[in-house]
Amino acid sequence: MSNNRVSRRQFLNYTLTGVGGFMAAGMLMPMVRFAIDPVLQKAGGGDFVPTDKKVADITDVPERVDFAFEQVDAWYTSEVTSTAWVYKNGDKIIALSPVCKHLGCTVNWAGSPDHPDQFFCPCHAGRYEKNGNNVKGTPPLGPLDEFEVREKDGLLQIGKTRPNTLV
Ligand code: FES
Repeated sequence: MSNNRVSRRQFLNYTLTGVGGFMAAGMLMPMVRFAIDPVLQKAGGGDFVPTDKKVADITDVPERVDFAFEQVDAWYTSEVTSTAWVYKNGDKIIALSPVCKHLGCTVNWAGSPDHPDQFFCPCHAGRYEKNGNNVKGTPPLGPLDEFEVREKDGLLQIGKTRPNTLV
């Protein structure tokens, strides 16, 4: 009888330890993987993302370039699509974020017929010069962010955003 009770308690202990250990492993494994796997680190760390835009085709007129990348967090991977406004300033490739610095709408190059050489935000008529500088007297209070860029095998790659270095 008493033997029986002890063994039942032992059984419970083993079971609970097992379940607890299994749950802890389930929570820790994605974190450990994320911490040590260099591929996952790259994807989560804002590494450069390839686009199909040929660098030779980039002109001095801003053009919309879409790109997609996998975003990995501790629990799942999702595909994120994003956009940059890309042009050349001499030999330098510029890629500006389309996210308006007023309330986050998407800006368009030459989006207003009255200002064909500026970025235009349709939400509240915000405007930016070609280098991303916000036009005074319109709602945005700061310049458009800039993407890091690089060329690989003749194609444009886009990296992290950073504060605008052109204005
Ligand atoms: S969100 Fe762009 S002007 Fe308001």
